[in-house]
Amino acid sequence: MSENINIPSGLDKKEVYRSLIPQIKALVEGEKDTIANLANIIAAIKETIGFLWVGYYFMKVAGDRNELVLGPFQGPVACTRIGFGKGVCGTAWKEAKTIVVPDVDLFPGHIACSSLSRSEIVVPVFINGKVVGVLDIDSKELNQFNAEDAEALEEIARLISTIL
Ligand code: SME
Repeated sequence: MSENINIPSGLDKKEVYRSLIPQIKALVEGEKDTIANLANIIAAIKETIGFLWVGYYFMKVAGDRNELVLGPFQGPVACTRIGFGKGVCGTAWKEAKTIVVPDVDLFPGHIACSSLSRSEIVVPVFINGKVVGVLDIDSKELNQFNAEDAEALEEIARLISTIL
């Protein structure tokens, strides 16, 4: 395991992700504990790119249904449970696809955990084709996320699926 993340200065966003992803792989290599690995992955993303909020929601059984339940995160305190189809996270779960929200105020049903959040991306994590959780990132800037973020974060989501 490598306990450092080093990103050279002067890189554009795509290059930052290209540098970050192998370092995330090295960070979790040889460690089997899911929470420890997820906590470090979240910290690596947050510290490298400086988003407002970065976190993981686990899909868990809650009575007779499943819900998303808050896992490791960095940023302001957040809502702990999200239902199927609710908010951006529950919609990404329901539709089983990445959702990019350029302006959270324009997303019907957006769940505002922090009033500072202006844009958001939610990337589902799959095991055997089924959503098992979501990676959620919020930004203080409008329009923060694009296809480059989606592609890189989907690669990180595939990595997360291997450590759950
Ligand atoms: N905004 C999310 C809720 C989670 S917080 O952003 C951390 C949503 O609408 O699902």
